[in-house]
Amino acid sequence: MTDQSSDREYRVLHGWTPMSDFAADNALDPDIDGACGSFLTTGHGLTLADASGGLWTVPLGHGREDVIEAMTAALRDLTYLSSIGLKSRYADRLAARLLGLDPRMGRVQFHTTGSAAVEGAILVLRQVHKAIGQPQRTGVVALDMAYHGGSYLCISVSGFSEDREQVTPLAPGVHRIKPPVAGHDPAASLAELRDILNGRHGATISSFVFEPIMGTAGVHPLPRDWLEEAIALCRAAGVAVIADEVATGLGRTGAWFASTGLDIDAMTLGKGLGGGYAPLSATLFSEQIVAPITGDADGEVKTGSTMDGYPAACAAGLAIIDAIEREGLIARAAEIGARFQAALREMEAFPVVGAVRGKGLFAGVDLVDPNAPDGTIGDEWREKILFRLATSGVFAAPTGDTLALAPPLTLSDEELAGMLDAMRSTFDVVSRRMARAQAS
Ligand SMILES: Cc1ncc(COP(=O)(O)O)c(C=O)c1O
Repeated sequence: MTDQSSDREYRVLHGWTPMSDFAADNALDPDIDGACGSFLTTGHGLTLADASGGLWTVPLGHGREDVIEAMTAALRDLTYLSSIGLKSRYADRLAARLLGLDPRMGRVQFHTTGSAAVEGAILVLRQVHKAIGQPQRTGVVALDMAYHGGSYLCISVSGFSEDREQVTPLAPGVHRIKPPVAGHDPAASLAELRDILNGRHGATISSFVFEPIMGTAGVHPLPRDWLEEAIALCRAAGVAVIADEVATGLGRTGAWFASTGLDIDAMTLGKGLGGGYAPLSATLFSEQIVAPITGDADGEVKTGSTMDGYPAACAAGLAIIDAIEREGLIARAAEIGARFQAALREMEAFPVVGAVRGKGLFAGVDLVDPNAPDGTIGDEWREKILFRLATSGVFAAPTGDTLALAPPLTLSDEELAGMLDAMRSTFDVVSRRMARAQAS
């Protein structure tokens, strides 16, 4: 760690991070203390490619002057304005911009985190059900292994049992189905959904929420035909559909949204919307789904927070969308993303690499130990891979035993090639070391 921890105990509580990771002598702590473009810099003077884009968060990379200037101008112009009872042209402009990108959507609610956006979607849809005389519809259907955020409701809806067990009792009314990925039978998972919707709790369900690509679970894209069928079942049962695009929205998969073409009622955006420059997220609703609330002059959404629609954050969002458009980054993410995916899939040839999945500039690389009975990589070899990657110039963050890669959409051809070379050499070296360790 840096100077703080050398003379006193490190006092920050980090989410999902063992306290021991911040011990002063931990060689794995890369001590990041700066960032520029596609790179992070360490206190030891190393430059590391930001292969995971923070937490899949920086579509334009770090330190962009256009975004910083837009935020600074907004701060000078209108430091703060409550979004409760007051209109802000920053929020208004960003809302118009977002709705212009997706004809399915007609209204926007701003928040500060992805969790708040998902929670906002669930709560507004409950309110809609109350408004149409179905107050019993409060439940949510979600997928096992899904991640929708760290708030109480979102932990309850997410499918990570270890996290959930630590904070029980959870919010009631959450129903879970197996995801149609990671070895689960898609037909069985649809049958589970059908059973819930047609079963004794069916009339109590308000919404179904899914990630088009299950990021935290290990970057598993949901099959398109499965999603279409699941959505049709929800439609028939009067259940609203939420696409959680906190990770995938705004270009990451080579399209503005990964759920484009699907018949959804609400969509959440986060991460790339503020681009790492601002805590900014949004929930978009179709005009039709929120009509029971918005159609009444006295109607109002019954959730909100102090910093929703924060002017400088909305200015960042606007500058990011402008840059994505101006620089043709959607097409670029599709083109460079196809090469990225193809090159990563070739790495499945290294014994230490299991399956590679993903779309565009969002990829999951499973790390495996071919000598372990169940193939599980184990802490020691996983740490060795991360360490070797870092010393080869790449910072990549795992989710479980999967490297989750989400580099900036602005990545140049040379930067992409360098990152892939470092990964190849790391996987090669570690695979050979593993084989030697097994032989000895
Ligand atoms: C799909 C998805 N939804 C929601 C969230 C929660 O977002 P936040 O961490 O900004 O609250 C995440 C975060 O990783 C996510 O990947």
